[in-house]
Amino acid sequence: MQMKKISTLYFSPTNTTKSVVDTIASVYSNNITNYNITLDRNIEINDFKEDELLIIGMPVYGGRIPSIIKDTLKKLKAQNTLCIPVVVYGNRAFEDALLELSDCLEECGFKIVSAAAFIGEHSYGAEIAGGRPNDDDLNIAKEFALKSIEKISKADTIDNLEKISIPGNHPYKESAPSAVYWGPQTLDTCNDCGLCKDVCPMGIIDKENSKLITDVTKCIHCCACVKSCPQNAKVMTSEMYNKFRGFLISNYSQVQKQPELFI
Ligand SMILES: Cc1cc2nc3c(=O)[nH]c(=O)nc-3n(C[C@H](O)[C@H](O)[C@H](O)COP(=O)(O)O)c2cc1C
Ligand code: SF4
Ligand code: SF4
Repeated sequence: MQMKKISTLYFSPTNTTKSVVDTIASVYSNNITNYNITLDRNIEINDFKEDELLIIGMPVYGGRIPSIIKDTLKKLKAQNTLCIPVVVYGNRAFEDALLELSDCLEECGFKIVSAAAFIGEHSYGAEIAGGRPNDDDLNIAKEFALKSIEKISKADTIDNLEKISIPGNHPYKESAPSAVYWGPQTLDTCNDCGLCKDVCPMGIIDKENSKLITDVTKCIHCCACVKSCPQNAKVMTSEMYNKFRGFLISNYSQVQKQPELFI
């Protein structure tokens, strides 16, 4: 089979998912249509055709894909379009996220070629998988892309594409409760440069005064604002955050999980 067009699509507040998806795509072609839905989940996305390939990446939130991107995923339209779903998780576990993403894509009319789970620096701090995906991870991402190309070129029709088995459970793990209202605080060292407001996927950092969160009930705790601040002035201080971060550091800062590929 030949592919006439390659597209990428991702949600990636702290850019680890972007890095993995871009690396996979770089092996295919330089001419790639990119849909980055991090800041805008309503961007226009063209319908996908049979001779196209979509590489799609999502971070793992609570063992699932982030709930805020589900409406965007449901709107995708494909006609037997080849697809490579990828999840990126913070060295704890990806649980049902890859299965959930793959199920959503199949419901939209995509045909799964291969799938993968990679590790990215945890949103809650560089103590957990700091610097990942690293060079080794990105080399594995390139090998994964090459093996996926080989699989596509060996299959003469879509029906001959060997089905893969993706780990996870039905029903999926229960989503984390949505009514947990905490968000970042701003220290006095903030110089109002505005960088944090430009990366907030929920648009809840005040346009006129970046020290203010306009609606904390919408915060998804992605930590894009925290990680983007050159002054280290955006910080998470809630008891729940500190407890969870402590748990992650105790249990997942000494182990280095490896990417898992399903081809
Ligand atoms: C709300 C939230 C929930 C998360 N849940 C998990 C999880 O269940 N397992 C895990 O290993 N990492 C988890 N992470 C860490 C992210 O999956 C990881 O840092 C990922 O690389 C972030 O992707 P991004 O850089 O594209 O934003 C979570 C992060 C956030 C913000
Ligand atoms: S990025 Fe940091 S210094 Fe800049 S406005 Fe935001 S909190 Fe303030
Ligand atoms: S305010 Fe909340 S949603 Fe916005 S970037 Fe910061 S952590 Fe993410």
